[in-house]
Amino acid sequence: MKITICGKGGSGKSTVTALLAKEYAAEGKKVLVIDCDESNYGLHQQLGMDIPLSLTDYMGGKMKILDDLAEGPQNMPMLFDEKWTLLDIPQGYFAEKDGIMLMTPGKIQTANEACACAFSVVMCQFMQVLDLTEDEIVIMDMEAGIEHFGRGVDNASDVVIMVIDPSRESIKLASKISEIGSSIGKPVYYVLNKVTNDTLDIVRSGIADKENICCELPMSQDIMKAGLIGSELQDGNDAIVSMKAYLEKHYSA
Ligand SMILES: Nc1ncnc2c1ncn2[C@@H]1O[C@H](COP(=O)(O)OP(=O)(O)O)[C@@H](O)[C@H]1O
Ligand SMILES: [Mg+2]
Repeated sequence: MKITICGKGGSGKSTVTALLAKEYAAEGKKVLVIDCDESNYGLHQQLGMDIPLSLTDYMGGKMKILDDLAEGPQNMPMLFDEKWTLLDIPQGYFAEKDGIMLMTPGKIQTANEACACAFSVVMCQFMQVLDLTEDEIVIMDMEAGIEHFGRGVDNASDVVIMVIDPSRESIKLASKISEIGSSIGKPVYYVLNKVTNDTLDIVRSGIADKENICCELPMSQDIMKAGLIGSELQDGNDAIVSMKAYLEKHYSA
């Protein structure tokens, strides 16, 4: 199964990615987490790993791919000439711990280095050529917003999970992502994150397709503190355990 995690900035995409990855790994699945956020540096810490080298560099580098892209997205050549499995990801271009592999198409490093489109091209193509066994799961932690849909990065995903924090912006974005998800034939499920007794009902009432709420992850002092210190998250979060069961019941690929 290939899962995309999306939502607005700070909603908890990386937190949900790390917690869900750890839950699948605890069950014995092989999990590949892809850090597609070209700007932020939290996910590898939440997984207790170092950031690996960039797959975009392995595939020829950002400037070469942007040159190819200048001919128009429809003329972009395939960078991968065959199907890949998790075993084909080259040494150094993934980090690994406790059954979870982490890779990234790259991060923005310097001023004037050009846009992040090359990263999206690499990820679009990688997701297309990646063959998984039944025991393997991919979780893509996206950059904030919906540009990745425009770039086609989600086309090879099976499932879109949107993380919603208690804010009007998130609730508005949910209806847009629901619409975009249906337009590309992907089920969209929602995680209501950072909810409290005061906010849960308000957030729920803003979601049209409530049956697709797969998780209510409460505001947690432990998660907040781990985010502040930059420490690894632990598996066994009750809400995420239930979320995994929900996904197993509602979706099987
Ligand atoms: N359920 C939660 N309870 C408390 N803090 C949370 C929760 N979920 C996320 N956070 C905190 O919110 C901040 C943003 O989370 P993060 O996962 O990095 O968001 P995103 O990847 O969407 O930008 C982090 O400091 C994180 O620790
Ligand atoms: Mg993030």
